[in-house]
Amino acid sequence: MRKLIIGGNWKMQVTTVEKSVIIARELSQAMEDLSALDKIDVFICPSFNSLYSLKNVLNGKELKLGAQNVYSKNDGAFTGEISIESLIECGVDYVLLGHSERRRIFNENSDFINSKVHKVLDSDLKAVLCIGETAEERKRGLVKEVNWDQLTKSLMNVSRQELENVIIAYEPVWAINNKYLNPDSEIRPATEQEANESHKIVRHWFEENFNATIAQNIRIMYGGSMNKDNCSSLLGIQDIDGGLIGGASLSKEKFIPIIKNAIMKN
Ligand code: PGA
Repeated sequence: MRKLIIGGNWKMQVTTVEKSVIIARELSQAMEDLSALDKIDVFICPSFNSLYSLKNVLNGKELKLGAQNVYSKNDGAFTGEISIESLIECGVDYVLLGHSERRRIFNENSDFINSKVHKVLDSDLKAVLCIGETAEERKRGLVKEVNWDQLTKSLMNVSRQELENVIIAYEPVWAINNKYLNPDSEIRPATEQEANESHKIVRHWFEENFNATIAQNIRIMYGGSMNKDNCSSLLGIQDIDGGLIGGASLSKEKFIPIIKNAIMKN
């Protein structure tokens, strides 16, 4: 059985260490009151500047730390980038890669993302690979093509064994609550049917490119406008193994109910 996983992607929404510490403390204290927390994995991805402080705040807690990005080189003259060693020093367990905001706003392509996937896996951290189609691509019937292409290129030369440290986040771009990504289209969460179909398509890629066991074991989170009101129906779908949450991960009032729902599903 796949263990559910809930991640909070804070993006650039919490901009000071002080605020990050307050929210992380509140979340981790609220999580202490939950039973059966060992049934799921939970992490938050704050801004880089807060990681080191949160390492101490969350030391030994069930709430783990993730980073929003990494660069594939160990060190050197790479202005504005962050190394895996820096993330390890900050106590990071998870690294988001290929988020739509990276792909679409900062022009990262799947080959570039692949180099970072390898860096994360070589370092024994967990790679949370984000994939997803735009509204336009969906309208043109390209859901399978786009997601399979992103998987094929982003996971190039990743071995079966390494896949144990890979988690997929299927995040249809049109569902992400971000007006920069979706200037012209209505932003809404995927319906149960859309999410169900897409997750099956994503899981099927692993069957075709690896085998049925790996396809059954790989965890696929859903992301895009998930909140405390819709999480129960989305997390209830068999092929959805958790959620990557943006806006609704920024307070305990919004995030804890999603964690509770995930515990109930497992
Ligand atoms: P959202 O973001 O929950 O605010 O839509 C999800 C994400 O981008 O990971």
